[in-house]
Amino acid sequence: MKQVNASVISSKETMPGVYLTWLDSPEIVTAAQPGQYVMVRCGSHTLRRPLSIHQVAGDNGKARFALLYAILGEGTRWLAQRKAGEKVDLLGPLGNGFTVKPASRDLLLLAGGIGIAPLCFLAQQAVSNGKSVKLLLGAATAKQLYPKRLLPRDIEVITATDDGTAGKKGFITDCLADSVIWADQVFACGPTPMYQSLAACKPTRPVQISLEMRMGCGIGTCYGCTVRTRDGLKQVCTDGPIFDLESVVWDKLALAGV
Ligand code: FES
Repeated sequence: MKQVNASVISSKETMPGVYLTWLDSPEIVTAAQPGQYVMVRCGSHTLRRPLSIHQVAGDNGKARFALLYAILGEGTRWLAQRKAGEKVDLLGPLGNGFTVKPASRDLLLLAGGIGIAPLCFLAQQAVSNGKSVKLLLGAATAKQLYPKRLLPRDIEVITATDDGTAGKKGFITDCLADSVIWADQVFACGPTPMYQSLAACKPTRPVQISLEMRMGCGIGTCYGCTVRTRDGLKQVCTDGPIFDLESVVWDKLALAGV
């Protein structure tokens, strides 16, 4: 984990109220694993914002990575308004990241809305390691669906929207049953209710999920991100944010922070 000043390369609105910001930082890119995050200092705001590492790229000797985030307050608004060349103070990469077993060949990814944020990097790395990737991508409406052109090539994508304006009509978790048999492992990111319904389905394959929680410090000292698991209390910032679906006590998840 390092503190770095990364230069903004670009910042664009990709879906309504959701921004994609590319930053130049070889230190982060070299160390980052899918599922990890950075703590971003947003201007004069005291608390840093945790944001998943969304994609990495390298060209012309440069290493850059992207953050995908919704504008939820002044901090994220500040980040979205940064211009090319401006510096952003980051701490990272932080957290444990996803674990892909070497023997796993077929990976099923399940993204609810902005939950695509950490899964895109996972898909990218999995494809380059020769794995097969199927992505179930859901959103409330077509406009809120992550653009397919930004996804890695060579992955299969199945979409669903709550209102039926793109893909299948309904929740993306409804598509799970058809694909879970195919997969060696399942990786999911989305809102807590999505995880709760996933847990209730009792998938027949191991599922890793990325937990989103309000964070104060990001380094395990404030205890603001404590959750209940079957192995006792855990800090999302350092023990997570990736957990086994079945290890989390979903009906009594948080002690604080949500
Ligand atoms: S954010 Fe402070 S302990 Fe996790």
